[in-house]
This record gives sequence, C-alpha cells and structure tokens, in this order.
Amino acid sequence: MARILVVEDEPGVLSVLTKLLRGEGYDVTPAPGGDKAQDILKKETFDLLISDVRMSPVDGMELLKYVRQAYPQMGVIMMTAYGSVQMAVDAMKQGAFDYVTKPFKVDELLLTVQRAVEYNSIVAENVQLKAELAGRSRFENIVAESASMRAVCEMIEKVAPSDTTVLIRGDSGTGKELVAKAIHAYSNRKAKAFVPINCAALPEHLLESELFGHVKGAFTGAAGDKEGLFEVASGGTLFLDEIGSMPLGIQGKLLRALQEKEIRAVGGTKTVKVDVRLLAASNERLESLIEKGTFREDLYYRLSVIPIEIAPLRERKDDILPMAYHILRREYGTSKQLPELDPEVQLVLERYSWPGNVRELENALRHACTFARENRITLDVLPAKIVQAVEMGHGMADPGGAPGEFKIQSLKGYLRNEEKEYLARVLEHLHGDKDKAAQLLKVSLATLYRKLPEPTD
Ligand SMILES: Nc1ncnc2c1ncn2[C@@H]1O[C@H](COP(=O)(O)OP(=O)(O)OP(=O)(O)O)[C@@H](O)[C@H]1O
Ligand SMILES: [Mg+2]
Repeated sequence: MARILVVEDEPGVLSVLTKLLRGEGYDVTPAPGGDKAQDILKKETFDLLISDVRMSPVDGMELLKYVRQAYPQMGVIMMTAYGSVQMAVDAMKQGAFDYVTKPFKVDELLLTVQRAVEYNSIVAENVQLKAELAGRSRFENIVAESASMRAVCEMIEKVAPSDTTVLIRGDSGTGKELVAKAIHAYSNRKAKAFVPINCAALPEHLLESELFGHVKGAFTGAAGDKEGLFEVASGGTLFLDEIGSMPLGIQGKLLRALQEKEIRAVGGTKTVKVDVRLLAASNERLESLIEKGTFREDLYYRLSVIPIEIAPLRERKDDILPMAYHILRREYGTSKQLPELDPEVQLVLERYSWPGNVRELENALRHACTFARENRITLDVLPAKIVQAVEMGHGMADPGGAPGEFKIQSLKGYLRNEEKEYLARVLEHLHGDKDKAAQLLKVSLATLYRKLPEPTD
C-alpha cells in the first residue's frame, strides 16, 4: 500500500483530502504545515508527498526542495491555487511529478495520485534492479556464492561509504585483507592511499614510530624526522592487520588517536590532526585476549563499531569450486583456456578441511597447475597431503572386516575401481566397441586404454 504524506494548512481541506485518499486505500499521514511535514519526514518514509504551495513558516516550494534533496526517490504533487500557473511551472522545474490546481476535481486528483504512485514504484524497482546488478559485478574479485560470504559483501557495501571503524575477524587466509581493500575501494577515500600494516611484524618501539612517526633523535638511529603511517594514510584508510598482537602500550596511544583524531610523533611535543579511516583485522578472537588481559576492552569497543566475520572455507562449501575456477582464471589469464578439474579432484577439494583457507586453496591449485597435463587437473597433481587427508577422513568401512574395524582404502583406488566398473558396463553395453565407448565417454582412445587396466595402488 502506497504511503502518502499530505501537507495542507487549511484544516478543512486537509481533512477532506485525507479521507478521500484513505477511501482509495492509501496509507495517508496528514501534516498541518511544512514544518510539521519536515519533522515527520525525519522519522518516516513515504512514497508520495502531496503539498500545498502557500504555507508558513515553511512553504510548499521549500518543502519540495528539501524532499528532492533528502529523498530524491519520493514523488511530489503540488497543489497550487487556480490561476497561479507560474507557481506550477516552477514546481515542475524543481522536480515535482505533477501539480493539481485548487479547488481540485476529485477524479483528476485521484488520477494524478495513481499515476505518481505507479511511476514511483517503477522507478524504485529500477533502482533496486540496478543496485542488484551493480552488486553482482561490483566485487568481481570476491567470490561469494555462499550465503555467509554474500552477507559479508552486503556488509561491505553498507559500511564502505561511511567513516566507521570496521573490525574484520576471520581465520588465517580467509580474505580479511581482501575485504579491507574492498571497503576502501568502495569508499569516498578510494582516491587516497590504502595503507596496511601488520602489527605482529614489528617490535613495540618500531611499531610505534611506524604508526605515529618520530622526530630526529627520538631514539638511537632516529637520524631525521619521519612521518608515521597515520599521516601517510591521510585522507585514506589505515589497515591494522593482526591487531591482536599490538602491544598494550601502543593500544593506549591508538585509542587516543581514535578519540582525539590527532597524534604525536615519538619524541615529539606537537600534536598533529589526522583524517584517517581505520580498519582492523584479527584471526584471534579479541574477546578472549581481553579476558587474558592483553587487549584493552575500551579499544575493542572503539574498533568493533561494525564487526565483519568471515567464516572458514570449510564452512562455506558453496564457495570452494567457484573459488577454484576464479583462482585458475587468475593463474591462466583470460587468453588461455582454463584446465578442467576432474570430478574426483572436485570431490577432494570440497571434502578437504582447508585449515589454511583460501590461501591454501590458491597454493594447492598453483601446485596442480605446474604439473597438470592435457589441460586437466587430475588427482595425482594435487598436493599429496591434501588427497591423503581426505582419504584418511573418509576411509571406507571394509564390509568383510570385523564390526567397527575400518580398512582404509586409497581414495584414488576407490574412485578408479568405480570408474573401472562403469567402463566395464559401458563396454558391455556397446558389445566391446572401444572406439564408440571412447567417443561417448568423450575421452581419447588412448585415455580409455590407460583407464582399463587394474589400478596400481
Ligand atoms: N572470497 C574470495 N574471493 C576471491 N579471492 C579470495 C577470497 N577470499 C580470499 N581470497 C584470496 O585469498 C588470498 C588470501 O586472502 P587475504 O590475504 O585477504 O587473507 P587474510 O585473511 O588477510 O589472511 P591472513 O590471516 O593470513 O593475513 C588472497 O590472494 C585473496 O585474494
Ligand atoms: Mg592478511
């Protein structure tokens, strides 16, 4: 049901209009003046505004300007006194959808309202469609097939334009830096620097001077003044990676920098204003570091205004194969044809637990690409560790063994046996015609012969 805000300072007219439109099934909110309308608009949203022009202290034209600016998607119909054509023209120029002259004819008014509401819903739909399409192509470097990764992308879109601090939590290799970069890339700061620093990589005094800078002679070796990363990132984004490793002393200074938006160089006396958006990432849970006493609770609250949690890869299986092809495309470039992943390779990739997450998948596929033949990625070119881990985790019970006793067969062996059985059935069906079989199985005759002998392991 369309929501309409009706603004009219003559109580009689307002009441008639309200009743009339409610009678047509619209959800109508009456406002007895432009100023009241502005108050209401701050709290509620509407599809359509119908407003008288002549009112005080806020008149209809002012209200129209306000709405066009603050709610450009809202339709506006102005009501002008009979004969004031100039006013109507002005209103249209200012972006009103239409106008009606008072005293209005009921049919004419209702028709105008109906058209405005219909037009508006089409516009709204288009806006949404465009946003959805844009959303899909927007993060083209982020694979997000799983529901949880899609939620992460939605969050990125939502928080990117603001200056809020975001804390990104995820196990090693889950894509924390990728998410941080995407937030920067879709923010108003994108033209300025994205400056990452790993808080675990430097000893305390170096980290402090990296972040805040130092003045000449601040410590042995400080031969000159040095700008800190807060200044380097000015107007841009500072990404504090592995924030959980930040020493307590620096945490206090960081908190001050966040609160005061100013910093002081090591050994310096002057404070400098800084304009930096802060993103932080951690693979540890900061809550448990707070319990241990190695992380300041106040800083945690300051940082985690918006928390983004990236699930481990094994918990979002829908991402694994699309991610694998995404990585292959990156490895091979767009010119070369992508290698195919054998079905058993796909199975292994989906079943493996990926403790090193996406980075481990990248490494595994790089390894596989190095050894791949005939543009196929087969089980034997995957890192053996991964294949073995899956074999161990999914050992098959030996039907002939004692109850509860497992005889683990190699996955390769198992799959080869399955394959051999299938090939035997195909050949039986085709009365042993190997040429035909190879053709139907879409493999070369040589491959078919290779697959027919007993598996060697
Ligand atoms: N959803 C994704 N889509 C595409 N590539 C991804 C995705 N997630 C991670 N990657 C890739 O995986 C690699 C590791 O990601 P990244 O460096 O962002 O992880 P991280 O969480 O910061 O890891 P670490 O904890 O080790 O610092 C990068 O090459 C990144 O591009
Ligand atoms: Mg990282």
